[in-house]
Amino acid sequence: MKWNQLVLAFFTLGTTITSVAQNKIIIPEPFQITTNTGTYTLPKNIVINTSNETKDLAAEISATFKNIKDAQVNISSTKGDIQLFLNDNPTLGKEGYTLNVNEKGITIAANTKAGLFYGWQTLCQLMPATMNKKNATNKVQIDYVSILDKPRFEWRGLMLDVSRHFFTKAEVKRYIDDMVRYKYNILHLHLTDDQGWRIEIKSMPKLTEVGAWRPERKGKWANITAPSIDEPKTYGGFYTQEDIKELVAYAKSKFVDIVPEIDIPGHSMAILAAYPELSTVPTNNYQVNAGQGFIDWGGLNGHITARIENTLNPASEKVYTALDKIFGEIATLFPFDYIHMGGDECPKNNWEKSSEVHELMQRENLKNQQEVQSYFVKRVEKIINSKRKKIIGWDEILEGGLAGNAAVMSWRGMKGGIEAAKQNHKVVMSPNDYTYIDYYQGEVTAEGKVYQGLRLNRTYQFEPVPEGVDPSMILGGQANLWTEQIQNIRNAEYMTYPRALAIAEAIWSPKEKKNWTSFSNRVEQHFDRLDAAQIKYAKSIYDPIVKTTLNTKGEFHVTMEGEIEGLNFYYTIDESMPDDFSSKYVTQFNLPEDVSILRVISYRNGKQIGKLLNIPMESLKTRAVKVL
Ligand code: ACM
Repeated sequence: MKWNQLVLAFFTLGTTITSVAQNKIIIPEPFQITTNTGTYTLPKNIVINTSNETKDLAAEISATFKNIKDAQVNISSTKGDIQLFLNDNPTLGKEGYTLNVNEKGITIAANTKAGLFYGWQTLCQLMPATMNKKNATNKVQIDYVSILDKPRFEWRGLMLDVSRHFFTKAEVKRYIDDMVRYKYNILHLHLTDDQGWRIEIKSMPKLTEVGAWRPERKGKWANITAPSIDEPKTYGGFYTQEDIKELVAYAKSKFVDIVPEIDIPGHSMAILAAYPELSTVPTNNYQVNAGQGFIDWGGLNGHITARIENTLNPASEKVYTALDKIFGEIATLFPFDYIHMGGDECPKNNWEKSSEVHELMQRENLKNQQEVQSYFVKRVEKIINSKRKKIIGWDEILEGGLAGNAAVMSWRGMKGGIEAAKQNHKVVMSPNDYTYIDYYQGEVTAEGKVYQGLRLNRTYQFEPVPEGVDPSMILGGQANLWTEQIQNIRNAEYMTYPRALAIAEAIWSPKEKKNWTSFSNRVEQHFDRLDAAQIKYAKSIYDPIVKTTLNTKGEFHVTMEGEIEGLNFYYTIDESMPDDFSSKYVTQFNLPEDVSILRVISYRNGKQIGKLLNIPMESLKTRAVKVL
């Protein structure tokens, strides 16, 4: 702040000194924040001032304050220590808010209830982490602050795959509770896939009677024993339509819209288990996939090839009749404008062999299988539009020509999103190399391999608007949690946090305010908040990034980097357990012949902070980059 601004601030605010703040705690970083000297202490008898219109939010807020030891909370329509105001401030838009804390108390103002809700989420972060625990706090003090905040994007999404593993209604509600702390407003539910159909469709009951169940398997994804036909199918579950209504209403009460995804024409083995007649290869042997591998990803001519068929027949009118019923019911259940039709990773080896598909190609003058897929997507778009909904799909829906008004969710990097935006289609950016939070997030031998690595510092570099693209075409961004290898909600949380905090900042905060050092410091403070709220999260930022090189003499060298500043790494290569008396990593070192394991541990300020990493030589060799 310039001197003359400081003087002006001094005189306008009386005895208070104002300065543009270095935000030390809030995630995502607010649009604008000013700190003032002084601290406000909430009284024991807290009064929340609210109008009738925002009474429900005031009730929710008062429930949190009841965690404060001996606190009394009352709601008043005339005055209060915390004031909630609906106003009409054009700079705030639909979701922005102002939050002021000063000697008079706390004021949150916004144009909408959503804005007030986000102001409240920010206020929660300014209060002690222990507010999440009953009786853990008896004094709530907040430094004077003045915040004007609003989101950069309207689509701030998290995707939860409830097909590969089913998550109960209560678990989905908890996932919503957690995401809104960081101002996410879209929950994309991946409701169907080869491994399970998760939503009741009354006109097609077998989708859930058959399609929601498989035998339970433990073990590594794609290395799992295939189910036999007569094996009991007891693992899975689905949401009834009443459950869905409850979830939609619950999400709405927290200003979250649910986007339903029905993934077609590929990823449809669960549909075929229920209705095999919808396949180009109708047999009665289809089963819901239990996690066994069945696709060659780089198969024939670089195309995806299914060893067990998992696609709908694009040439069958029965398929479009079924989809009309399914999307008809989906449209009545989900009030959000968009329905997601998937469209990704569709093997076409059985389409190529199908006489029906050949006839379709002749009749419709379709030159190749991409155009067949495009024909399918356009038919689906017509169905979805006929239900007064808009269609969105993964970026494969671009192949063979994009349907009229379809929006694209770009997952294979940003390429598809750039192409769609250039064709004037709306885009949600969810590039796998920045936002796929199912990928492992630290040392692979400690975390377990899930496709590829994605550390927090890389996630933080996500920028939804690529160079040269009209920003008005980008609806926003999304992190995707696929659950092939996530068996329970605690693991879902572990993979989501803290990377969802990085994505939240990419899609809410001004681009120019992003700063890794500031963010990583704030993340560490949020670990206390996540602990208090009993949300599981990964501490992989404390583990070194271990790389190896192999030179022409056949020697392996190891390098270690910290993801954040201030870490010291201690290691052994003689099989012993390391501590801070072991070799301290300073620069790259050689791995002598016969070394079988590298053990590493990280410390900060003399205290162990990272987990013990045990990295076998085999893994060090596999990751080696050759240097000439
Ligand atoms: C995807 O990850 N297959 C959309």
